[in-house]
Amino acid sequence: MFARPILAAAFAAAFAFTVPAGAQPMVIKFSHVVAEHTPKGQGALKFKELAEKKLPGKVEVQVFPNSQLFGDAKEMEALLLGDVQFIAPSLSKFDRYTKKIQLFDLPFLFDDIEAVDRFQLSAKGQELLGSIKNRGLLGLAYWHNGMKQLSTNRDKLERPEDVKGLKFRIQASDVLVAQFRALGANPQKMAFSEVYQALQTGVVDGQENTWSNMYSQKFYEVQKTIAETNHGVVDYMVVTNAKWWDGLPPDVRKGLSEAMAEATAYANKLANELNAGDRKRIADAGKARIQKLTKDDIAAWRKAMEPVWKQFEGEIGRDLIDAALKSNK
Ligand code: LMR
Repeated sequence: MFARPILAAAFAAAFAFTVPAGAQPMVIKFSHVVAEHTPKGQGALKFKELAEKKLPGKVEVQVFPNSQLFGDAKEMEALLLGDVQFIAPSLSKFDRYTKKIQLFDLPFLFDDIEAVDRFQLSAKGQELLGSIKNRGLLGLAYWHNGMKQLSTNRDKLERPEDVKGLKFRIQASDVLVAQFRALGANPQKMAFSEVYQALQTGVVDGQENTWSNMYSQKFYEVQKTIAETNHGVVDYMVVTNAKWWDGLPPDVRKGLSEAMAEATAYANKLANELNAGDRKRIADAGKARIQKLTKDDIAAWRKAMEPVWKQFEGEIGRDLIDAALKSNK
């Protein structure tokens, strides 16, 4: 008889301490452009799970994949306006905010995703996370996807001359414009959500992306050849609105930071595995042919794309390029 009201009162007091009576959890929106079964898609879901576990009743994280809420064209603006609190654009999409992050687009800069990881964890790499604060954006973490491959609607895709005159969809990056121009091809900036249709209808002949993006978006169904070039990287920066982040109650900011660190470790560990699995699924589907390249072929692609480095060295900074090169073992 006695024990119950006391217990109930104690419980109510404890509960009131963590969440004021009647308080609604803070709704936090995380928007991205890829499918759920991708490194970024899985990272966002893990972040939601961890954040809600660490801050019970205080936050509700809503994840919107596949450009459902905002696509490439709108997501940065939406973040600055406070319509969304987290996005994770590919590093190629920061062109309008800083030229420094364009470093990651230099063709054949990194040998593999492990080198990318080493650079991102270095002092120079970490510095870049804060480099857009003057634009109201704060980078919280890097998330991996993987190395880029090249695909076209042609049977032959071995050498740079095989893409001469072809139209390629690219992300909104001037370095990528220069990369395809160096190959004698015609680049066209386009939002990710429009790529499948553009490939299907022949608006463009080809594109560059990771295995996980090509599989989840079904690009392999509307391309004839995918060449294993590994010529660049698709990685992400998870960004938030700097003012919103700085204004959060300290305990919420701490919980979200921890959730972000753990989700980052989880997603980055998963990235290689997901890409390897999707490469196999594309090979097994038997639709697009996977073209393996010899060392000699790779050297030819590298040489053809080389002029891009000189073109952007001034804007990016030689110090950053050297730091990135040091990450290759
Ligand atoms: C693309 O636009 O091709 C990709 O970078 C999309 C993404 O976020 O992986």
